[in-house]
Amino acid sequence: MKTPTTGFAIAIDGPVGVGKSTTAKLVARLLNMTYIDTGAMYRAVALHTLRTGEPPEQSISNLNIELHHENGTQKIYLNNENITDAIRTQEISEFTSAQIATNELVRKKLVTLQQQIAKNNSVVMDGRDISSQVLPWAQLKIYLDAAPEIRARRRTNDLLSRGQPADFSQVLQETLTRDHRDKNRPISPLIQTPDAIYIDTADMTIQEVAEKIASYAISTTTKGAIPCSTAQSEA
Ligand code: DC
Repeated sequence: MKTPTTGFAIAIDGPVGVGKSTTAKLVARLLNMTYIDTGAMYRAVALHTLRTGEPPEQSISNLNIELHHENGTQKIYLNNENITDAIRTQEISEFTSAQIATNELVRKKLVTLQQQIAKNNSVVMDGRDISSQVLPWAQLKIYLDAAPEIRARRRTNDLLSRGQPADFSQVLQETLTRDHRDKNRPISPLIQTPDAIYIDTADMTIQEVAEKIASYAISTTTKGAIPCSTAQSEA
């Protein structure tokens, strides 16, 4: 029997390329919760900044960033434009990591927005600072990890399988650079909070990781209750 629990939150943090988004999406589907990709929000600010040249601390207050769930997938809108695909370029990844995720005012605004979303939904939220800053009250906190070589190998294979050029040593170098930035920036660095459960995904499939997190969520809620976003549901 599923018992609805509003205001349940699962925070998933971890380094680049560990499979957070795919895992979080699957966990959300398994538990009928809402998936929130916070990295996409930082990327949206990066896209606007690159397009307009406006300093992000000036534009951030006027940006309307919305996440919509359409046909089971998350879409991101910037000032009513669907930018879901536009934010997935190498240029945006690099610029976001170097210039946007390090901006204190941007972080403050986006964290507030993320907290508002979590107030009204049961969420699976992934990022770098979810356990430490955004949802320190989350009932379940997960830190996903894998060695940089493993993450770089997965990313290389992924690019090759999509017919894109990829060189393992270059991907590894990029992975190490982004790890260093994420973990050492002065504002909201990536950390594993003491109350987060550490999962090394090296020898696990995404499905296995997601099922493990879902089983933690179920045992966290009382009497086997399953958290879900809206008032529903018997199963
Ligand atoms: O997860 P991602 O690659 O889409 O994230 C894009 C960038 O944003 C990456 O440099 C890490 C940063 N980020 C962050 O600082 N805090 C978050 N909560 C999510 C992402």
